[in-house]
Amino acid sequence: MCGIFGIVYSEEKADLGKHLYKAAERLVYRGYDSAGFAGISENGAVDLRKDAGKLEEVDKHLNLREIRGQRGIVQLRWATFGIPSKENAQPHIDCKGRLVSAHNGNVVNTAELIRELSSRGHTFRGDNDGEVVCHTVEDFFNRDNNLDEAIRKAYRVLKGDYAFVIADSRGKGMFAVKKGSSLFMGIGEGFICASSDLPSILQFTRRYVHLYDGEYVEFDHSKFTIKSLETGEKIEREPEVYSGDISSAEKGEFPHFMIKEIMEQPSTARTLITYIKESEEPREFAREIKKTRRTYVIGSGSSFHASLMGTYFLGRIAGKLAIPVVAGEFIERFQGLLESKDSFILVSQSGETKDTINVLDFLQSKGYENLYSFVNVPGSTIHLRTKKRFPIMSDLEISVAATKTFLNQVIGFAGLASLMTPGNPGLKTLEKLPELIETTLKETELQIRDLASELKDFNSLYILGYGENYPAALEGALKIKEVSYIHGEAYYSTEFKHGPLALIEPDQPVIFISSNSHPEKIISAINEVRVRRGKIISVSNENPSIRLNSDVFIPIAEDGFFTTPILSVVILQLLAYYLAVERGLNPDTPRNLSKTITVD
Ligand code: AGP
Repeated sequence: MCGIFGIVYSEEKADLGKHLYKAAERLVYRGYDSAGFAGISENGAVDLRKDAGKLEEVDKHLNLREIRGQRGIVQLRWATFGIPSKENAQPHIDCKGRLVSAHNGNVVNTAELIRELSSRGHTFRGDNDGEVVCHTVEDFFNRDNNLDEAIRKAYRVLKGDYAFVIADSRGKGMFAVKKGSSLFMGIGEGFICASSDLPSILQFTRRYVHLYDGEYVEFDHSKFTIKSLETGEKIEREPEVYSGDISSAEKGEFPHFMIKEIMEQPSTARTLITYIKESEEPREFAREIKKTRRTYVIGSGSSFHASLMGTYFLGRIAGKLAIPVVAGEFIERFQGLLESKDSFILVSQSGETKDTINVLDFLQSKGYENLYSFVNVPGSTIHLRTKKRFPIMSDLEISVAATKTFLNQVIGFAGLASLMTPGNPGLKTLEKLPELIETTLKETELQIRDLASELKDFNSLYILGYGENYPAALEGALKIKEVSYIHGEAYYSTEFKHGPLALIEPDQPVIFISSNSHPEKIISAINEVRVRRGKIISVSNENPSIRLNSDVFIPIAEDGFFTTPILSVVILQLLAYYLAVERGLNPDTPRNLSKTITVD
């Protein structure tokens, strides 16, 4: 989704554009279709350059990196209101070219405001909601020349979830506003910046400040003041120092972030498992969840698949009734069925997914208190608004496709289930996991590359799993769709004969995930496909019978209730990655997708 960044330096910078470009490069992973920069010089001159297209393309014809100035604003736009075009690209300027702003999120009453503001003489150059933000603030600013007040008044009028930065070119400094979309401040030597995304700040400074919804901040190069949008009252908050590994924002020697992040999994898993074993926090989390009546585990996309796998672990290992729910359907399906003794675990890599935040809004509005989260990004909305957080500890994940964060989410659930069980027997298995992931990556990569080259021209792939391997199949199918654009579809293995079997023609590949706890279930499904001359690819624990019945057999390093589904996902991540590469695609930035989905 859109990314915004605003910075104020102590003095005019001849290389402002280069700094802005560096910030923009860290925002691209969110997904976008237009790019724009604005530089504001000490004398108030505004240099605005923007267009539809990728950052490099826009830079090529508009020389974004040549922009000079003391203040700068960047926006990468992912179209929701208005087609991708030069006019709708951000930043925007007001009617007189005095105010410069960029927003992120959605202003849902855009059409009404365009009509109203136009009737009062405002000139709109496009039909983008970011432009509506600029003119709405301008409308109030025109009345008493007070930008601070104008922002607070605009906040009451602009409906939806958004964040924006805005500067008066004739004034000093900048404002940043947060209402439902992510926003962080960075405090550096000789500059202060605001951004929708921590990675874009961390390359300049590790000192950052969280902002909460309903807050805005006025800043110049050396000081910042946070205030409440409702009351205008000042809010004191000290900067924190980011202690994570920021090298995760660099590709290093890898051709893509996706493969780098897949390969980082032994290390990120180790960090999380050490935390689970050694820290008191997850134990307390486990004790609290155990006391509640039933636990709803809620997420979207890969985070839903992790939730589903997590509920298998919680149910089978810890005997806890846990209900997995797709975030988007939670309210419709469960309102009226919830009790105050229930607990709710919100699962989200980014901590900013709108579907999941809607659930949080709903639960908070109804007064439910047992709100927990599994989130990777510290300081994100879900992280800040939940009572107890289980940190995912994967460092920054840049590739749009979730890999190392998915794995740590499920490891987190395996840890939680183990801690909820007397004697914590599952922890022994978890300790071995980083090494097993490493072995899996080493031992299967070549075989997967060959398989990808064999499968690259198929339009469809089916992936079947039974029991706890079903969420692994779902996650594998999502990865394949997302990065290779092949139609990957997962089925619960026993369901395949109830309809999808009709799709099997000779040579149609079907991937079976199998563990030794229930091979007979998979062997039946294999046979149903085999007799129709489908191609059988098994991702399986060593099993002579499955090997014999397979055209391709990819061994899973160790059998186990946690290990088989987790290691099979690692294998399917590799397959998705190499399918994308074989098809000449960039897996880091799949078409139409965004890393952080901040809209309904
Ligand atoms: C995963 O590869 C996808 N990019 C997507 O399904 C993602 O998991 C989903 O949008 C939820 O994101 P979140 O974990 O940040 O909430």
